[in-house]
Amino acid sequence: MNGARKKCLLFFGAPGSGKGTQSDFLVRKFEFSHVSTGDIFRENLKNETQLGLQAKKFINNGNLVPDEITSGMVMEAIKNIETKNFILDGYPRNIQQAEHLKALSEELNFEIRNVIFLEVPDEVLFERLTGRRVCKSCGTVYHTVNKPPLKEGICDVCGGEVYQRKDDSADVISHRLKTYEVSTFPVKNYYEDAGILQIVDGQGKLSDIEKRIENIVKNF
Ligand code: AP5
Ligand code: MG
Repeated sequence: MNGARKKCLLFFGAPGSGKGTQSDFLVRKFEFSHVSTGDIFRENLKNETQLGLQAKKFINNGNLVPDEITSGMVMEAIKNIETKNFILDGYPRNIQQAEHLKALSEELNFEIRNVIFLEVPDEVLFERLTGRRVCKSCGTVYHTVNKPPLKEGICDVCGGEVYQRKDDSADVISHRLKTYEVSTFPVKNYYEDAGILQIVDGQGKLSDIEKRIENIVKNF
């Protein structure tokens, strides 16, 4: 039974710390599945599902979507994973969610192997988030200055429309950073106490950060 046990890598960090960007790198380079709660919510918003309609006002205002909605959604996503290793990005975001994930790991038989905390100062986060653009079709992440698409407004990967997320406006970004500080940051201590937290400097060239992550993941 243990041979079939899945392994989970958790990306933890503030909005804009690079969780999505580094997840994309691992998916491209290694055989990881990627579960991003933000991406699942946005897909549901786009398709105007019941879940999307329930989550919409929380996301657009920069608040956390209630646990009753989020935790069930995460369980379904993890159940459907087919690869041995997977990344969780954007979950857990408060202590209750961390406890729920622990219970899920027992119920669904997976190990939370590493928690990577991407450390980036607030002023850099703000600049990254205001400049971020995302492909509407495939979700590829760009930045107006650091990583622009080759043709403005058009995704290099799939030709889809590149847009600005509604929650990437200056006032909503400020609120998301506050929500992170109050509700999510305490989760860092939770995993530090569990002895599985690894702090990675999330500043600098993308290729340098990728190397730091790769060094951790090579023993996964
Ligand atoms: P979510 O989509 O998870 O947003 P987030 O946590 O705010 O994180 P981001 O996606 O904004 O940032 P990121 O760390 O992925 O950075 P990225 O790689 O894109 O969640 C959205 C909303 O959904 C939440 O506010 C909440 O309402 C709801 N939600 C989600 N999960 C929930 C949960 N568990 N419970 C309740 N509600 C939940 O990078 C950012 C930019 O920086 C990009 O433009 C990128 O190109 C650039 N960049 C990245 N790295 C570098 C670098 N090294 N140098 C220069 N630029 C860089
Ligand atoms: Mg993201």
